[in-house]
Amino acid sequence: MARVVVVGSLNCDFVVRVARRPETGETIMGNRFDTFVGGKGNNQAIACARAGAEVSMVGRIGDDAFGETISRTLRTAGVRCDHLVVDADAGTGIADIQVDDAGNNAIVVVPRANAKVTGSDVDAAAEAIDGAAVVLLQLEIPLDAVAAAARRAKAAAATVILNPAPAPADGQLPEALLRSVDIIVPNESEARALTGIDAQNEEGARSAAKALQALGVARVVLTLGERGVLVADDRGMEWLPAFRVHAVDTTAAGDAFCGALAARLAGGLALREAASWAAAAGALACTRHGAEPSLPMRAEIDDLARRGHEAGPRDGAT
Ligand code: RIB
Repeated sequence: MARVVVVGSLNCDFVVRVARRPETGETIMGNRFDTFVGGKGNNQAIACARAGAEVSMVGRIGDDAFGETISRTLRTAGVRCDHLVVDADAGTGIADIQVDDAGNNAIVVVPRANAKVTGSDVDAAAEAIDGAAVVLLQLEIPLDAVAAAARRAKAAAATVILNPAPAPADGQLPEALLRSVDIIVPNESEARALTGIDAQNEEGARSAAKALQALGVARVVLTLGERGVLVADDRGMEWLPAFRVHAVDTTAAGDAFCGALAARLAGGLALREAASWAAAAGALACTRHGAEPSLPMRAEIDDLARRGHEAGPRDGAT
């Protein structure tokens, strides 16, 4: 099986459903509360394993009930947890998530144990990273640790994928990190944060992809929800259409996309084919509530990818 290592965050998600998100200073009533296993690293690791890859997770959880649930869920999904550190001095990361009636969300993350991931954790995972085909990274752990993982993965000739989520507040990523990244996978708002360019229309999306390439990353996969995916590489640019689904919750749709993309690239598929298949995974994640429960299995992704782009209203996708 193709080997993928995910270095990233693990959270417990506290999710409230609301008709609309509140204004500043306003109190509103919600209509549902759930807790889910989440965190972009955790979600992408599970998505990748369900998409058919052999996956190892590198990160930190607290020595608490949330951490236990997360590690049990990862193992059940088949993710190797040898390099998942239980940190006695910090609680497991948490995310406060509001999901509105349109399925859109707003998220506040308190990193806790995720903030303590270091380059030493990356070194301790050397046997996994050095044997990986793909290393998948996000930005919910300290940038130094992300850069150390990217550097180590690059030296081991793995394909390094960076999902720059959440985007840094100042829109800046260190050049040294970008030099080690093979493929960057931002959404519209992350692309805007990193380039200052609005990808709201086709011209803007193409300019944003070009600007990202100018930052030093040769391959860009820009996920644009119901508008599809723009892939830019040395063959030029190509739009891949979104899959039509009825979206109830877009949480973790980007994670489903990234995990599926990593699995298929690790399995030897070319970038455009892998991104098109991953778009089906992202679309499926929109059709179910929560992060981990929404991440699809390989057979479901295959099925939607085969049925193509005809079924249902186009409410959302990647
Ligand atoms: O991408 C969705 C994830 O973002 C949630 O699971 C939440 O934990 C935050 O990390």
